[in-house]
Amino acid sequence: MGSEIRDINLAESGERKIEWVKRNCDLLRTLEKEFSVSQPFKGKKIALSVHLEAKTAYLCLVLKAGGADMYVNGSNPLSTQDDVAAALVKAGLEVHAWYDSTPEEYNAHIRAVLEAGPNIIIDDGGDLVHMIHTELTHLIPNVIGGCEETTTGILRLLAMDKEGALKFPMVLVNNADCKHFFDNRYGTGQSVWDGINRTTNLIVAGKIVVVAGYGWCGKGVAMRAKGLGARVIVTEVDPVKAIEAVMDGFEVMPMNEAAKVGDFFVTVTGCEKVIDEEDFAVVKDGAIMCNAGHFDCEIDMAWLKANAVETREMRKNIMGYRLPTGQWIYILAEGRLVNLAAGDGHPAEIMDMSFAIQALSAKYLVEHEGQLDRMIIDVPREVDNDVAVRKLAFLGKHIDVLTEEQVRYLNSSAV
Ligand SMILES: NC(=O)c1ccc[n+]([C@@H]2O[C@H](COP(=O)([O-])OP(=O)(O)OC[C@H]3O[C@@H](n4cnc5c(N)ncnc54)[C@H](O)[C@@H]3O)[C@@H](O)[C@H]2O)c1
Repeated sequence: MGSEIRDINLAESGERKIEWVKRNCDLLRTLEKEFSVSQPFKGKKIALSVHLEAKTAYLCLVLKAGGADMYVNGSNPLSTQDDVAAALVKAGLEVHAWYDSTPEEYNAHIRAVLEAGPNIIIDDGGDLVHMIHTELTHLIPNVIGGCEETTTGILRLLAMDKEGALKFPMVLVNNADCKHFFDNRYGTGQSVWDGINRTTNLIVAGKIVVVAGYGWCGKGVAMRAKGLGARVIVTEVDPVKAIEAVMDGFEVMPMNEAAKVGDFFVTVTGCEKVIDEEDFAVVKDGAIMCNAGHFDCEIDMAWLKANAVETREMRKNIMGYRLPTGQWIYILAEGRLVNLAAGDGHPAEIMDMSFAIQALSAKYLVEHEGQLDRMIIDVPREVDNDVAVRKLAFLGKHIDVLTEEQVRYLNSSAV
């Protein structure tokens, strides 16, 4: 099957974006060079479903340079950039994606990349893995294994593994230190505010920001809100994370109380209905809400759409809903990942690390074909360390090295 994209004439703009990313991704540039000689993916088909913007596109080109035949779709209809998709097609990859595809089109795109019969799956949120295990099971024997990019996808994989349903090994890329320490915290922290600021063009200083979820992403979003001058309230369900938020200097309270005072709301929990009917009933008129968690169910959009008495599009990616209780609330990017659907996602230098882990984990799978005896695979420590050592060198930073005497001391029980 050929590619399905919106317009190949957009390719030049996509190529410029990819060139910019390449300039700023030291690790991926090095891997591209290494892979083009060592050809770790020669003869292998890779199906990839990750937010289809320029950083992802460069990862695709690095894997292609390593010999892979690439079949690509986006992991969210609103994060696909049509010019980037066109640039990949021009570079000879098969792409099935366009911005704002309907749920039916989105599913057809996932199906199309899987029908290529991939040996490796690179997933972000678990949609490829889910479809191959439910609707295209005859293709499972081709698969050596896969890599999962995000927390929500990992939760889905762990649930499948518990039921014995997972039929090939999956590397938990998100759980690598060089992924979630930086991508989830600093990447989400910065890009969520980039998405909100460019979409709303409003001041954050002096406002009350409510961050739902104080996990890796939530910590970053709260930290950057504080830096922008906001008063930050955190909502949590985990008592330990709640104490952490208190000690980091944030107010902590249940959502229904925070709902009464917040100006901006950001959900980033991986859970559903974090802001629901009861919270909508008490929000201030003009409250702005967005989501940075993987799926668009954290703000109860279904209730909002069914019960709003009036709707009004204010600007691109800002939809107003007038509630039965009279207030207007404004939802950014339809409650989908605000940093990707209303922005360009994480900064390039951050995705450089995450995607270096992806590329090296995919290589690890190929090198260990048939040797992995578990379905859930942690990123090997040596891959994490390799990425950290390379990144530190690119940052021009040097660190101390343990002496032999110190190593002996650390490994001995004597005081
Ligand atoms: N926007 C992005 O670019 C981006 C990047 C990475 C991850 N993610 C997604 O963001 C979500 C969170 O990822 P993470 O790595 O921070 O996960 P995490 O597990 O570190 O943190 C999630 C936090 O949310 C809390 N939580 C769960 N349900 C809640 C509820 N109902 N109310 C309040 N708090 C609740 C949990 O206790 C936990 O502390 C996931 O869906 C993940 O896939 C998005």
